Amino acid sequence: MTQPSRVAIIRGLRTPFAKSGTHYAHLSALDLGKLAVAELVERAGIDPAEVQELVFGNVIPSVKAPNIAREIILGTGLPRKIPGYTVGKACASANQAITAAADMIYRGYADTVIAGGSESLSDIPILFSKNFSEALVTASKQKSVGGKLGAFRRIRPKDLAPDAPAIAESTTGLTMGESAEKMAKENGISREAQDRFALQSHTRAAKATADGRFKDEEMTVVVPPKFEQIVETDNLIRGDTTLDALSKLRPVFDRKYGTITAGNSSPLTDGAAAVLLMSEEKAKASGFKPIGFLKSYAYAATDPFDQLLQGPVFALPVALERAGLTLKDIGVIEMHEAFAAQVLSNIQWMGSKKIAQEKLGRSEPIGDIDPEKINRTGGSIALGHPFGATGARIVTTVCNELQLTGEQYGLVTVCAAGGMGAAMVLERE
Ligand SMILES: CC(C)(COP(=O)(O)OP(=O)(O)OC[C@H]1O[C@@H](n2cnc3c(N)ncnc32)[C@H](O)[C@@H]1OP(=O)(O)O)[C@@H](O)C(=O)NCCC(=O)NCCS
Repeated sequence: MTQPSRVAIIRGLRTPFAKSGTHYAHLSALDLGKLAVAELVERAGIDPAEVQELVFGNVIPSVKAPNIAREIILGTGLPRKIPGYTVGKACASANQAITAAADMIYRGYADTVIAGGSESLSDIPILFSKNFSEALVTASKQKSVGGKLGAFRRIRPKDLAPDAPAIAESTTGLTMGESAEKMAKENGISREAQDRFALQSHTRAAKATADGRFKDEEMTVVVPPKFEQIVETDNLIRGDTTLDALSKLRPVFDRKYGTITAGNSSPLTDGAAAVLLMSEEKAKASGFKPIGFLKSYAYAATDPFDQLLQGPVFALPVALERAGLTLKDIGVIEMHEAFAAQVLSNIQWMGSKKIAQEKLGRSEPIGDIDPEKINRTGGSIALGHPFGATGARIVTTVCNELQLTGEQYGLVTVCAAGGMGAAMVLERE
């Protein structure tokens, strides 16, 4: 294989996103990933034998089948000769899956790869406490009934409490919500500004849905195993929400002084998304019409003890430089909305000369982003945020919006746990 000039995104597809515990309450991330990949292959009209690798993002893996990528291959009837691997980069996992797949193509090691991600926050592993797990392991090694029972001698009622994964930083101990609350306070992002941004996310997502803007990227799910329930659209969008309703919600992460509520946060969500990538040469030779091309990307990280969700500010200038572009050249911008406070904080830092000089080692700011111009079809606050899948949803949306608007360049940013950030520059034809 020769090295391609560019990596083409042939098309992208996602399941409708659903509030965790609703439509997909009984499905796993694997089930959702299989649905998205099987339908993507079908809709793209690609011969499955052409696929050379599958790379998938997943943040809360199943203890029993942690390599979800390979399980998707085996569970969708794709040829068993296709290898697959799973990546975890918190909320930027699908971005990492896509860029890893693209790198394989750039190197000429593959010309057709599926990448994406999946998450079920309805199906999280519930663990036993350390004491109880140790007692179970000790008991399993004992031969006599007395020995087995003896292993539980020191177990107290509190050891029997289930231990569920928390959306918290291991270093700071703060949850994502608490970290966003800290950012809102330090950057002076008001409750009203957050609620206005959340309202915009819902209004735009509702309009985009009504206008059929997601029809090329959203599949219908007939929910297994009974196949009685049909899910045709996202169930978290609130087209009827108002600023007044949002302003009445109580803060969740700092109940006394906080500004972050269920309304201006991304909700816990189930869903999957996938894209089909090809070398430009293969795409053209096979008659595919790509929806976009990956021009550049960058990942960066900041100190979690500073402002945890500012990673995109560090990744963005590098991705732009690698693309040979500036912010002014970009026509479509999609920023992942973990929290309204995070997006507004990212935008504030991107426009600040002080931040550029003190934190980024640059003389000039990245540039001003008009909040009105980003996320024209809504974002994760309204659509939902299945951690492992969001990056692939956003890449697909940017490509489709480039096609629709005729803009040449699109930008993706995603903040992620650990202080990380992703930025990708996409282009049309
Ligand atoms: C914020 C969070 C705790 C809220 O969870 P929740 O309490 O289950 O949320 P709900 O959907 O039940 O909403 C709570 C209330 O707000 C209301 N509400 C939520 N969004 C609303 C909106 N846009 N407009 C009006 N009301 C809204 C709900 O109707 C509900 O009201 P009720 O209690 O009268 O039924 C949860 O979504 C969360 O943890 N999000 C952050 C996830 C995260 O950290 N992600 C990582 C990002 S990188």
